[in-house]
Amino acid sequence: MEIKPTLLIVDDELGARQSLEVILEDDYRVLSVESGQEALETLQKESIHLVLLDVNLLDMDGLEVLRKIKKQDEEIDVIMVSALNLARKAVEAIKLGAYDYITKPYEPDGILSTVNRVISKQRLHKELVFLRREVETSRGFDQIISQDKTMLEIFELVKKVAFTSSNILITGESGTGKELVARSIHRQGNRKAEPFVAINCAAIPSELMESEMFGHEKGAFTGAHTRAIGKFEHADGGTLFLDEISALRSDLQAKLLRVLQEREIERIGSNKPIKVDIRIISATNTNLEEAVFKGKFRQDLYFRLNVIPISIPPLRERKEDIQLLAKHFLDKFNRAFNKKIPGFSGKALDALTRYHWPGNIRELENLVERIVVLSPGNEKIDLKDIPIEILMNSGQNIQDGEVKEGGLLKIRETIEKRIILNVLENTQWNQTETAKILKINRNTLLQKAKQFGILLRKID
Ligand SMILES: Nc1ncnc2c1ncn2[C@@H]1O[C@H](COP(=O)(O)OP(=O)(O)OP(=O)(O)O)[C@@H](O)[C@H]1O
Ligand SMILES: [Mg+2]
Repeated sequence: MEIKPTLLIVDDELGARQSLEVILEDDYRVLSVESGQEALETLQKESIHLVLLDVNLLDMDGLEVLRKIKKQDEEIDVIMVSALNLARKAVEAIKLGAYDYITKPYEPDGILSTVNRVISKQRLHKELVFLRREVETSRGFDQIISQDKTMLEIFELVKKVAFTSSNILITGESGTGKELVARSIHRQGNRKAEPFVAINCAAIPSELMESEMFGHEKGAFTGAHTRAIGKFEHADGGTLFLDEISALRSDLQAKLLRVLQEREIERIGSNKPIKVDIRIISATNTNLEEAVFKGKFRQDLYFRLNVIPISIPPLRERKEDIQLLAKHFLDKFNRAFNKKIPGFSGKALDALTRYHWPGNIRELENLVERIVVLSPGNEKIDLKDIPIEILMNSGQNIQDGEVKEGGLLKIRETIEKRIILNVLENTQWNQTETAKILKINRNTLLQKAKQFGILLRKID
């Protein structure tokens, strides 16, 4: 069943309110109040689609109320109603941003069709925003590419949970596609026409974080010159993406927990609760369970956020995805930079597949972009186009002419690094054994590894 849009009638005359209610209540959820003050308070608490506002109220001038509503939220549509057809007032109302000015007594059909028009205008606007996003998606902007078994299982899970409102916690190393998966959950669910709002808990200075989340009233603290709506309110009806959740300060962890329990927020400097309906998807690239264990993250909050866990494997564990994604990004950047690079040589693909991708898909995407930008011609991407750090860390044999940067000066280091890498590969990255074979002590091995940017994969 579709939810009825909410209308707010503001009129000091009981009769006028009742006659509007009768006309509108079949198609709309109708709230009515008799004063400007009550109208402004209701707007703070409820999500209102349209206000029908009488020009003459007992406590305030209707135009003054209109001005205040628009100041609070410019996007709320207001229709002014009046017993008198005063051209001057009508003009002023429209100037202040009213959608229309109608006179009493109401003609049921007329008023209904005006209200319907406003609501369908709002729907069209939402649809437009949604369609724009869909077009971007179909062009492949945020398409998720994978043929890995674990990833395909994740896609299945995403399909199933998209239509619920259960909270989801996505874990995975940096650059594995956590945000992409979060957006895809939003897009596939029934909240897709509503906003997807992201907060990065690590990127926002901690003193601004609370206001970023919950908003504030004018004058709530020094520097709060105007009222600000927080991200939770913006996300109402939609999805809130809490990125890097492990960085959330402990007092805000407590507040977040309360919001999840009560399903309402309070702006800073106000004690009026505002109802919000949001699905929360959080993401982290650190081990949140361990943070809970160490007392850095609240366990009760962890349980609430982690109703459905999704863990994205790193790229190095999705070997077959490396080639697939490399080709996908080559297509993407060929198009973006108007180039016609036909593909990768076998050796180049091999080197990419062996590399351990600490920055995961983002690192691969950036690499392909750089290669496409720098590549002059229409030839296949070969070993010479791939940065030495990647070749060095991918167990690829370096041959003459293939060392790109540094030339001869780097040759000693290059050889040393090669030898270390070869022994590491042969011992399955056993550090103690590698050190023994090379006749150096383990600390020297660690030092060299650091110097050459070798990531020691296995700790023994
Ligand atoms: N499976 C995929 N197919 C196509 N592109 C992908 C895929 N996974 C990730 N990407 C791309 O890689 C980049 C990084 O993805 P995203 O921002 O979602 O990662 P993240 O896990 O949120 O990273 P971080 O922890 O650093 O915030 C983005 O440009 C995204 O479009
Ligand atoms: Mg991210």
